[in-house]
Amino acid sequence: AEPKALPRDLEGRRVVISAGGTREPLDPVRYLGNRSSGRQGYALARVAAHRGAEVTLVAAHTADLAAPAGVRVIKVGTAEELRSVMLAEADGADAVVMAAAVADFRPVSHVEHKIKKSDRDPDPLALTRNPDILAELVEARGAGKLAASLIVGFAAETGDATTSVLDHGRAKLARKGCDLLVVNAVGDGRAFEVEDNAGWLLGGDGTEEPIPFGAKSRLASTLWDAVNRQWHRQ
Ligand code: CTP
Ligand code: CA
Repeated sequence: AEPKALPRDLEGRRVVISAGGTREPLDPVRYLGNRSSGRQGYALARVAAHRGAEVTLVAAHTADLAAPAGVRVIKVGTAEELRSVMLAEADGADAVVMAAAVADFRPVSHVEHKIKKSDRDPDPLALTRNPDILAELVEARGAGKLAASLIVGFAAETGDATTSVLDHGRAKLARKGCDLLVVNAVGDGRAFEVEDNAGWLLGGDGTEEPIPFGAKSRLASTLWDAVNRQWHRQ
């Protein structure tokens, strides 16, 4: 639960947050999906609303979560649907946060009728790339087609033999071009790799702030504090 008396320091700001995992249909009964619960995105929405922001939550598939009070929720299924809602809702927003787990690929064809088995082995599943919504938001803003003050991305990284979590995060921030990137360290290597920290908040201006391990609502507060600081500097 959130502390009782949160500051109303986000009053007058409009924020748009994506949450959950997209589902990419194969036929009417099957899809490619992921394990995202949507909890981080919902926590971001709840905390922002408590702090006075006008919040739109664009929710792909999530666990069974209660809609946060005072938040407008728009449900979507696929990455393509999420993309079109985000491009429309992000225009004029003070902050856009891409907390959704967007499927990188989708089946090339979505067939109308349920796929039936036969005696032979199935064809390999043909996949195609989904649009990168975060990169597209940044690009649209750069081209003057979208007004959004701050664009925030999320990344879950494990690190590997040659590259640390933090370096993967830095590379992703550079690739996406967003204003802030929340980097979560995930996987078995976490404790060794990052010591006491659960991740970092990386700024497009080169700032790097460690995020202490804690509840998703705490991470949400840390992120809104950083967003609010950037608004005050604009
Ligand atoms: N994202 C997006 N559209 C996609 C894929 C990702 O908008 N098609 C967003 C996510 O919502 C997140 C950020 O981009 O805010 C980083 O997602 P991530 O999956 O970590 O990055 P990718 O660029 O897909 O790289 P990879 O999965 O290869 O690490
Ligand atoms: Ca991805």
